Amino acid sequence: MDFKTASPAIGVGRKIYIETYGCQMNVVDSETVMAIMAARGFARADDAGSADVVLVNTCSIREGAEQRIWHRLDELAALKRRRPAMVLGLIGCMAERLAERIVAERPAVDIVAGPDAYRSLPTLVGEAFTGGARGVNIELSKEETYAEISPVRLDPTGVSAFVAIMRGCNNFCSYCVVPYTRGRERSRDPETILREVRELFDDGRREVTLLGQNVNSYNYELRITNYDGAGEETVAVDFPELLKRVAAISPLLRVRFATSHPKDISDRLLEVMADTPNICRAIHLPAQSGSSRVLDRMNRRYTREWYLERIAAIRRAMPEAAISTDLIAGFCGETPEDHAATLSLMREVGYEFAFMFKYSEREGTRAAQTMPDDVPDEVKTARLEEIIALQNELSLASNRRDVGREFEILVEGTSKRSDDKVFGRTSQNKVVVVPRVVPGSGSDEGYTLRPGDYARVRITGCSSATLQGELVQRTSS
Ligand code: SAH
Ligand code: SF4
Ligand code: F3S
Repeated sequence: MDFKTASPAIGVGRKIYIETYGCQMNVVDSETVMAIMAARGFARADDAGSADVVLVNTCSIREGAEQRIWHRLDELAALKRRRPAMVLGLIGCMAERLAERIVAERPAVDIVAGPDAYRSLPTLVGEAFTGGARGVNIELSKEETYAEISPVRLDPTGVSAFVAIMRGCNNFCSYCVVPYTRGRERSRDPETILREVRELFDDGRREVTLLGQNVNSYNYELRITNYDGAGEETVAVDFPELLKRVAAISPLLRVRFATSHPKDISDRLLEVMADTPNICRAIHLPAQSGSSRVLDRMNRRYTREWYLERIAAIRRAMPEAAISTDLIAGFCGETPEDHAATLSLMREVGYEFAFMFKYSEREGTRAAQTMPDDVPDEVKTARLEEIIALQNELSLASNRRDVGREFEILVEGTSKRSDDKVFGRTSQNKVVVVPRVVPGSGSDEGYTLRPGDYARVRITGCSSATLQGELVQRTSS
């Protein structure tokens, strides 16, 4: 494999900087690339200006995401004119999608590598150091999961970490570029996942988020050797089973996951969650639209009614669960009635939180090939604004319902607004800000809340984005 062909010490005395755009999967990928490069001796640079190698990990999900990166490439090309020895590489989804154009239009870029080609980066970088031809590797793989590589975390002291459990996507929603940039869906060996999570916990992390484009279709055929002479057998590990095993590592480890495709969210998953207190009470279930007609055109493979039945199943299993979503405004052919259906779905579910986007046509997708992008931009904008305004209302209403209640939070760090306060999250993934120092009384010395502590708090106030609270009791540290 390419991985072995570069000199083992290619990075000794050199520094690398990785800039990350896009989703959480890209964050883990950057950490995986850091691990691959650190194994060759590279040290981490604090900024692009002091690095020998600069890698930009890119996103293609919407036109705006790519625009930002084209612009950033111009800035990095200017930096390279001042520091000609610097090696500049583009990796990730946009590298996969637009490799040819990038090579043709951006002479400053030395390396282009897609999401399944990161093991070849030391070789590509090595060739760039010696002034070889510009290196491009955008081969997609059916197997690559970087299973045995433990990512080098970008925030070395954080409380929480992302853990990739699968890669790629087979769903081909008609608007979406991901199946083309990340290739076919494949699951990672559960034993490597469990090992990585155990290491994270032993290092002091208290929360992991298991990541995949569609975690509910996680499935791995694990080979087990029998020593009683019966030979080998295989056991299928599916997502509920994996979740159970990860959560069993410690009751002090919080487990989250993202994202769930509504068509695959099973009753068994909900049962496992309901039975396991350290699996967080938060489900991200992207609806995209509230209109069955639009959902059909999006190739989402569920209807509004089916989606609402899944929401009811979540509420039955875990009445206290928070539900969040992704929504797209102005998809091809979306009528005012379809848009109204999205707004009514939002009210009916009462989402705690949502990521909301204007539809952005992506070349090569089914929608781009077969459906005109016919909702005018001003209409998309107006619909998106209505969706955002409604979500703010729903988030505020949900937060107001929490005032007076008690929750356990995992403390993450100092509040952005005040050094005297810390913030943490509830199991529902809501941010709570509480005073850092709890004064003692009498013989009780009081204490200071630190990242990684669990604490019981009472909610005293809120905005649409955060909860304010007071400490009831520190529950563990
Ligand atoms: N696999 C995840 C989503 C990954 S992309 C899932 O299916 O849940 C994150 C979000 O970006 C999507 O849920 C969708 O809301 C949005 N998105 C994807 N393609 C888009 C496009 N062409 N225009 C606008 N938003 C898009
Ligand atoms: Fe894109 Fe759909 Fe796959 Fe999500 S499930 S990544 S929206 S194709
Ligand atoms: Fe973007 Fe690729 Fe993630 S397109 S959203 S970085 S999977």
